[in-house]
Amino acid sequence: MSNNVFKVALIGAGSIAHSHAEAYMSLEGVEVPIVADINTSRAQEFITRHGIESWTEDYKEILGMDDIDAVVLCLPNYLHAPIAIEAMRAGKHVLVEKPMATNAKEAQEMIDVRDETGKTLMITMQLRHSENTKAASEFAKDNMGDIYYAKCGYMRRSGIPGWGSWFTRKEEAGGGPCSDIAVHVLDQCLAIMDFPNPVSVTASTYSTFGPEGRGKGGWGYPELDGFFDVEDLASAFIRFDNGATVIMEASWAMHLPDRQWVEVLGTEGGVKIENGELNLYKEEGGRPFNMKPEVKRENITVNTAEHFIECCKTGQKPITSPERGLILIKIFDAVYESSAQNGKQIEL
Ligand SMILES: NC(=O)c1ccc[n+]([C@@H]2O[C@H](COP(=O)([O-])OP(=O)(O)OC[C@H]3O[C@@H](n4cnc5c(N)ncnc54)[C@H](O)[C@@H]3O)[C@@H](O)[C@H]2O)c1
Repeated sequence: MSNNVFKVALIGAGSIAHSHAEAYMSLEGVEVPIVADINTSRAQEFITRHGIESWTEDYKEILGMDDIDAVVLCLPNYLHAPIAIEAMRAGKHVLVEKPMATNAKEAQEMIDVRDETGKTLMITMQLRHSENTKAASEFAKDNMGDIYYAKCGYMRRSGIPGWGSWFTRKEEAGGGPCSDIAVHVLDQCLAIMDFPNPVSVTASTYSTFGPEGRGKGGWGYPELDGFFDVEDLASAFIRFDNGATVIMEASWAMHLPDRQWVEVLGTEGGVKIENGELNLYKEEGGRPFNMKPEVKRENITVNTAEHFIECCKTGQKPITSPERGLILIKIFDAVYESSAQNGKQIEL
């Protein structure tokens, strides 16, 4: 860090990179001097739009720059592990977009290199930096008794991202809506439950809209060949070592309205977050008692950026640590394995 300025470079200048650029550039004492993307016109448009000094098509150039403290990886999922590993070995702190990796083996390698290099490695799970998650987790800790059951889901009616791009290729994405969007609500749900240890998964996945070119969404850069070999709907039953269970649902395309939710049940209370609205439930004097806490509107990408910089500077462990990311990836690996084996229960 030179002259008390913390310098962050973005690798990948596609769709999600814009909100990261805006977030880091809004922070005092933080600069974003350079961006890398193999798509040179995209990189040039990106720096013009955000007023960034320079761009390169080769991310290795950034890894060789001594004054860059950290990199934010906004890359297709299959590039998360190799480039995060290379960046940490080059002495950079790394924030990597979700999902952490395309499988648990890659995620474990990232953790090993984090340990070897001592750099900060954090996963972007911006819902965890919301007031909703914080209020729900506090309520769960103090008011809900034993948590035994939860449901979470992230379902889009028509929201396949980048149809035919890396998003819909198993080898490059790792999976469909399960690892792409349900990852957010499962992580939020497990945080409220205080991260019990998963022990088994039973799941089914379906691919009905994507292969026919139906259910396309507006996100990402579609490719004309339309290749699609991931699921477009997943449903899973997850057991934990404390006896709790979670039902998780994920969809990119279906004949029902969009919905995003987490519902958690404890012996003394319940939590529901639906489409961003938090409601808390318990009993007072033998009667049902509901609460709807006022939560301030906030920019959770900025909160995420602030937390990342704080972790890099202090060595503090990120709340969305790679260890938590690995647990999620192990669950997704088991979802796909269970589905491939006709719903067989997979032990973790
Ligand atoms: N946190 C969230 O809510 C959220 C939302 C959307 C996407 N994401 C995640 O962000 C990541 C990127 O998603 P996206 O929607 O921006 O994808 P995208 O396809 O829009 O952008 C990816 C960019 O990476 C570039 N790229 C590919 N290979 C490269 C390389 N070797 N070097 C440099 N650049 C390279 C591509 O040219 C492209 O511009 C994914 O992991 C995705 O899951 C997170």
